[in-house]
Amino acid sequence: MIENDSGKKIFRVGILGYGTVGSGVAQVLLESRPTLKEKTGLDIRLHKIAEKDEAKLKEARFDRSLWTDDARKVIQDPSVDIVVEVIGGIEPARTFVKEALAAGKFVVTANKALLATHGQELFEAALAAHSAIGFEASVCGGVPIIGAIRDGLVANRIDSLCGILNGTTNYILTRMLEEGASYADALKEAQSRGYAEANPALDVTGGDAAHKLVLLANLSFHSIFHLSDVHTEGIDKISLEDVRYASELGYTLKLLAIARRREEKGAEGVELRVHPALIPRAHPLASVRDVFNAVLVRGDATGEVMFYGRGAGKLPTASAIVADIVDAARGSASQTFTKLQFFQKDRPALPVVPMAQVQSRYYVHFRVTDRPGVMGKLAAVLGEHEVSIASLIQKDQQANGEVSIIILTHQTLEERFRRALKEIEALPFVRQPSRFIRVGEG
Ligand code: HSE
Repeated sequence: MIENDSGKKIFRVGILGYGTVGSGVAQVLLESRPTLKEKTGLDIRLHKIAEKDEAKLKEARFDRSLWTDDARKVIQDPSVDIVVEVIGGIEPARTFVKEALAAGKFVVTANKALLATHGQELFEAALAAHSAIGFEASVCGGVPIIGAIRDGLVANRIDSLCGILNGTTNYILTRMLEEGASYADALKEAQSRGYAEANPALDVTGGDAAHKLVLLANLSFHSIFHLSDVHTEGIDKISLEDVRYASELGYTLKLLAIARRREEKGAEGVELRVHPALIPRAHPLASVRDVFNAVLVRGDATGEVMFYGRGAGKLPTASAIVADIVDAARGSASQTFTKLQFFQKDRPALPVVPMAQVQSRYYVHFRVTDRPGVMGKLAAVLGEHEVSIASLIQKDQQANGEVSIIILTHQTLEERFRRALKEIEALPFVRQPSRFIRVGEG
């Protein structure tokens, strides 16, 4: 445990992993040491770096004597005060974090996958060891959203969060929509810039945003949610044709992560979902482009507050990690941590609202044979399921006699909408499975 009240002024940092983020942390620690000393009175030193793959150290600017290929040499080094875990993935990161806590180190991690799946175990281990875990970098890179919800907004009951939490997908969508880039090229570019996860499937299928949403929701709603509670869809099934049609209607496409408190008939619940959504171009999240992230938080006292910044990449993520290191060195982290009640067992569990019970508007694209009565039948089935049409466009007929019908619905229950789709898809004039995208935040 760090004893800042003992007058300790020198803090030594050990880093596990020298990938994009690890090298950023080393760079920021080396470059900002004098500034940090000036600002905090503390001397925060880069002491050791563990990296198995020596090839990654090619351009390293630190003294080679700091390097080891054995993480345990960092964890067990008695002079290391703070261990930064930036290996990513579940194992061996989970074991190393537990060992570092047991060895009395403060841990800082950017590992949202680890915290979203093993958070409870690790936070309990930290409390038992009278230590703490800093995790500002795990959500939205350089945007200090964890500190803002934990501290700045502490007076509020948080009613909802709606955000763009994944930089890679936002980068891909921006390139596709604005420059007509192909999905594959845009993804490659995001990878080469160091935005994407080691396994980019986590980005494009919504998994990474879901990890971050679990952490934000746990913090905001004082309940324990699990990854399986989040309804998760990615951008991998989106068709560029639909994005263009939606754009003609004044909408832009974003991968949204939404957590919303709901109260019905006196019972409380929370909606937790990650999915593509069409938002009007005037919506505050519509102008969030490229790798930028943003979160709109609605508090009962503040109303809407928006956080915006770079959600991925070497230096923005390093900035958040170094902030946690400073917090640990100052001694404030251990105090906050014991009072945070984050991931603790005895909190009341708020029920998660099933997706079928979520209300939304929908964009839906039907591909049908162009013949009399088709439009009437579509409208009739939607009406029978209480799905009301807000607007409708028919695109020009193609040579094969097929036509696209685009319908925007009014707000309706997801369960009703899906039942209507199922019935429509069984009709003889429907030529391809229908495609839908939710409209707005719901
Ligand atoms: N792959 C993540 C993203 C990195 O694209 O947002 C930051 O968590």
